[in-house]
Amino acid sequence: MSPTHPLFLLLLLQTLVITTTTTTLALASSSSSSTPTPTPWPRQFHALLFMNYSGKLSMIDLWYDWPNGRNFNIIQEQLGGPPLRDLEWNNGTSFFYTLSPPLRCRSAQLDVGILRPDWLAGADYLGTRSVDGFLCNVWTKADGFITYFEDVLTNRPVHWVFYTGRQAHVMTFEVGKYLEDAEWQAPVYCFDKGEDEEEEEEEEERVEQPQSIASDVFDQNLMHKRSLRGLVGS
Ligand SMILES: *[C@@H]1O[C@H](CO)[C@@H](O)[C@H](O)[C@H]1NC(C)=O
Ligand SMILES: *[C@@H]1O[C@H](CO)[C@@H](O)[C@H](O)[C@H]1NC(C)=O
Repeated sequence: MSPTHPLFLLLLLQTLVITTTTTTLALASSSSSSTPTPTPWPRQFHALLFMNYSGKLSMIDLWYDWPNGRNFNIIQEQLGGPPLRDLEWNNGTSFFYTLSPPLRCRSAQLDVGILRPDWLAGADYLGTRSVDGFLCNVWTKADGFITYFEDVLTNRPVHWVFYTGRQAHVMTFEVGKYLEDAEWQAPVYCFDKGEDEEEEEEEEERVEQPQSIASDVFDQNLMHKRSLRGLVGS
């Protein structure tokens, strides 16, 4: 076939088109697979977390409920007292309380709400790593404040670790599972701040009782909550 034969030109053109298309496709797929983005949190889920904070172990029963603007961490320290319930509302109010003796409640006011489902958006991708036996995509957010590990196969969170060393290992992750409204009611002793001073004092006393571990946990959790929301929150 002469190089000027119309059929030759047609073939040449076809080859060019195919080559260009394949190159474009290859580029597109390589750029999308090299920078995965974290899967947004489901709007409602229930998770059990195994926590390790510098060797101090606890379990957290986590109920995330974005549509209702609330989040619950029910924290059980290893061989500790009754679970500490950390109930967070999107208006910034948090209640920390126990439901079995010693009965305690404290509340705190933050100026940001609960984590948004897309709170990990904009995180820096670090590549893949195997953690807890799962191959994960790994991101870091807010200059290493948190490192987040998501299962490559299922996109479920597997693990996250804060710069403080506080680590979470996700043991169960139930998408769409939610806690009934009645469970979100803080107990009456969270609200009985009476008008008169005596009642105030009584409440103070109850708070100051010698359950110092729970008190540490309260302070720790509050500090953690403040920095988490401040750095990665809305
Ligand atoms: C908890 O974390 C520490 C490091 O901070 C580690 O040495 C220890 O083995 C961990 N414990 C468990 C039960 O995972
Ligand atoms: C935030 O919402 C909760 C639940 O409805 C409520 O108990 C609390 O008082 C509210 N806080 C503020 C500051 O309005």
